[in-house]
Amino acid sequence: MTKIKTFYQCQTCGYTSPKWLGKCPDCGTWNSLVEERKEAVRSLGKSEPISLSSITGEYKQRTSTGIKELDRVLGGGVVAGSVVLVGGDPGIGKSTLLIQAVSGLSKKCGKVLYVSGEESPEQIKLRADRLSINSSEIILLSETSLEGIVNTASKISPKAMVVDSIQTVYTQELVSAPGSVGQVRDCATKLMLFAKSSEVPVFLVGHVTKEGAIAGPRVLEHIVDTVLYFEGDRGHSYRILRTVKNRFGSTNEIGVFEMSDSGLAEVENPSELFLSERPLNVSGSTVVASLEGTRPIMVEIQALVSPTNFGIPRRTTIGVDFNRINLLVAVLEKRAGFYLGGMDIFVNVVGGLRIIEPAVDLGIATTIASSLREVPVDPRIFVFGEIGLSGEIRAVTQAEQRLKEASKVGFKQAVIPLSNLEKIKNNFGLEITGVKDIEDSLATLFP
Ligand code: TYD
Ligand code: MG
Repeated sequence: MTKIKTFYQCQTCGYTSPKWLGKCPDCGTWNSLVEERKEAVRSLGKSEPISLSSITGEYKQRTSTGIKELDRVLGGGVVAGSVVLVGGDPGIGKSTLLIQAVSGLSKKCGKVLYVSGEESPEQIKLRADRLSINSSEIILLSETSLEGIVNTASKISPKAMVVDSIQTVYTQELVSAPGSVGQVRDCATKLMLFAKSSEVPVFLVGHVTKEGAIAGPRVLEHIVDTVLYFEGDRGHSYRILRTVKNRFGSTNEIGVFEMSDSGLAEVENPSELFLSERPLNVSGSTVVASLEGTRPIMVEIQALVSPTNFGIPRRTTIGVDFNRINLLVAVLEKRAGFYLGGMDIFVNVVGGLRIIEPAVDLGIATTIASSLREVPVDPRIFVFGEIGLSGEIRAVTQAEQRLKEASKVGFKQAVIPLSNLEKIKNNFGLEITGVKDIEDSLATLFP
C-alpha cells in the first residue's frame, strides 16, 4: 500500500508543518494544528453552466420518516441525497431517535442501513426490542472504518443510512485518532460525497463534546445540509429537536418529544406540556405566546427579584439571553421608574426551552415587575411584544397565530402591542388590549 502523505495545518493562519505542534510558531495560537491530507491532483469538473430559466422545477423527493416532529424540523421529510447531522449531549436520545426514524423509513421505502461504531448489533437489538422495532429491512453494521462503511453501503445500496457516531469513524488516509478534527471532517466529507453521488440520505450522529466545539458537530456544520440539535435536561423527560441549519427548509423549527419507557413519543401539543405545572396566582410568573419557527408555543417565564446580599447585584438567566435581561432592566428603571440596582434578578423559561425571539420582552418585563411588587399576573392573561429602548412596545410577527394558539389552550385575555392589535382581523374569542409603551402595559397588567 502506498503511504498517503499528510501534513498539519494551522486552522487560524494556514501555517503548515510536517509534524504536529501544540502551538503554531507563526501566529502563536495554541492547539490549532490539524492533520490534512495532501490532495492528489483532481480532475477538472464536468459541470456545464446552465441558465436559470432552463431549470425545471423538479424538486428532490422527500420521504417521511414516520415521525411527524422529525419531518417538521427537516422541512417536511428527508431529501434524497442530503446529509443530516444530529448533534447533542451523550445520552440525550440520539440513537433512540434515529433507530425510530430508521424503522419509519424502512416501512416506507425498504432497506435502511444503520452503522454503529459505538454499540454492537446485540446492544442495538436490545434497544429495538424495547421500542418494539423489528424488521428484516433494517440492516445493522458494526464498523468504524470509513472505507468499510462506504463499501458496504455501495454493495447493499440502502434507501437511507445512519452513521452513529461520526466521532468513532476513521479513514485510513489520516494517521490521527478517530474523533480528531481532521478525521471527523474528512470522514464527513466522504460520506457527503457518497450521499450526493448515490442519492441516499445520510444521517450523522455527532456528540457535543464538553470541552466545546473541538471535533464536535461544529466542525461539520458547513459540510452537511441540515444540522439538528437534540436538547433537553437529563432531569426532565422532554427533549427538543431544533434546526440550526437547513438547506431544504426553514431554520428555528422545533420538534418536541418526551422520553418514555418505550422510546421517544411525539408531543403534539407542547403548549399544554409547558404550562402543565404552572402555579396560579403567585408573583413572578407570566405566560408568553412565543413562536418557534412556524409554530406558536405558550411558555411560562418566571422571575425572582430579591434584595442583593453582596455588593454587586446578580443577574442570572436560563433560557433567555443574558444581555436582553440587562437591557430590559435598564428600560424598567429608566422608563417605568423601578429601582432594580440593589436587586438580584433570576429569570427562567420553564421546561428547559430556549427562546431567542424578542417577542418575549414584554413577558420578561412583566414577570420582573410582578416579582418586584409581589403582585401576581392574572393567570388567564398572556402577553407578547418587543420592547424598545425608549420603552415603546413594538409589533411582532404572526400575531394572529399566537392568539389562535393561546385561545386553543384556554386563555381569555391578551396584552399585545397596539400596532399589532390595529391589524388583526380575528380575535379568536379573546379580550385583547393593545399597549403602546411599558408604563401603559404595567398599568393594564397591574390595575
Ligand atoms: P440514547 O439514544 O442511547 O442516547 P445517545 O445516543 O444520545 O447517547 O438514549 C439514552 C437514554 O435514553 C438512556 O439513558 C436511556 C433512555 N431511554 C429511555 O428512557 N427509554 C427508552 O425507550 C430508550 C431506548 C432509552
Ligand atoms: Mg448513542
